[in-house]
Amino acid sequence: MQERMPAVDAWIWIDGELLPASEARVPVLDRGFLYGDSIFEVTRTAQRRPLFFAEHLARLEQSARLLAMTLPDRDALVMACRAVVDQFAESECYLRLIVTRGSGPLDLDPAVADAPRLVVLGKSLRLPEPALYERGVALATVTPADCGVRMLPAAKSSNYLPSVMALHLARKRQAYEALLCDAEGAITEGASSNFFIVRAGVLMTPPLSLGLLSGITRAVVLRMAQQHGIPTREARFTAEDAERADEAFLTSSVRGLVPVTRLNDQPLGPGQPGPITQQLLSAYAACLADGGSWSVS
Ligand SMILES: Cc1ncc(COP(=O)(O)O)c(C=O)c1O
Repeated sequence: MQERMPAVDAWIWIDGELLPASEARVPVLDRGFLYGDSIFEVTRTAQRRPLFFAEHLARLEQSARLLAMTLPDRDALVMACRAVVDQFAESECYLRLIVTRGSGPLDLDPAVADAPRLVVLGKSLRLPEPALYERGVALATVTPADCGVRMLPAAKSSNYLPSVMALHLARKRQAYEALLCDAEGAITEGASSNFFIVRAGVLMTPPLSLGLLSGITRAVVLRMAQQHGIPTREARFTAEDAERADEAFLTSSVRGLVPVTRLNDQPLGPGQPGPITQQLLSAYAACLADGGSWSVS
């Protein structure tokens, strides 16, 4: 009798080939592996199409410019993403697009890299439990003294050590996500998310000028708030300001909006998702229902 193979849960496009994730390999001399010399994007599909795909490709191009890196052409990027997404006929998928500067001799000089390596990873989408959206999560702030600062924060590079350490510290404090502060105590962003608070009916998020990733979901939320008549401000604020907020939430492409109901071991606001957070969560759900798009212009 023929043995039934388990379904492949994750697929990887690498060096022009589509492989089950368990079979994909990166050469040790790849600079992404050696130096974190690579950039990436993460999104998910909605109605089997990548969510905010054009915006993610535009940010990948911006990251490449900031790191003086050459990208494969757009058609090749789109074609690889399509090949991966096509493997998920039955479910939505998580999609990660990585471009490394390539391989070469052991030498920091980027000029020795051969050619960019394109890797696209797709896996079945697993979202946080619904209870997490209903109850909200706890955050803990961390300082540059605890975990260092993100380098070139406007570029989505694979150098995530400060975020890795920040999350390690936050988890030791039973928090779901770490909130990064700069040397002056201003909150910048989460370890892998952007951060919003609501105070006296105004939606506030740190400005990009403080040095943080220009989150795709952050921009969508600011746009949705304006469409719903919610006043918005991009302004500097500290952990103490956030602790006194009425509401808070974090954003990222895969998780969408996640209500925050505790900060630094204290309830934030009434300790449950607030009305503006709920309103934006519904608006975002409508966005998801509209689906993603393969259009890249
Ligand atoms: C450091 C950092 N900030 C913010 C975000 C949220 O960005 P986006 O909404 O584009 O996923 C991420 C996402 O991974 C991130 O790693």
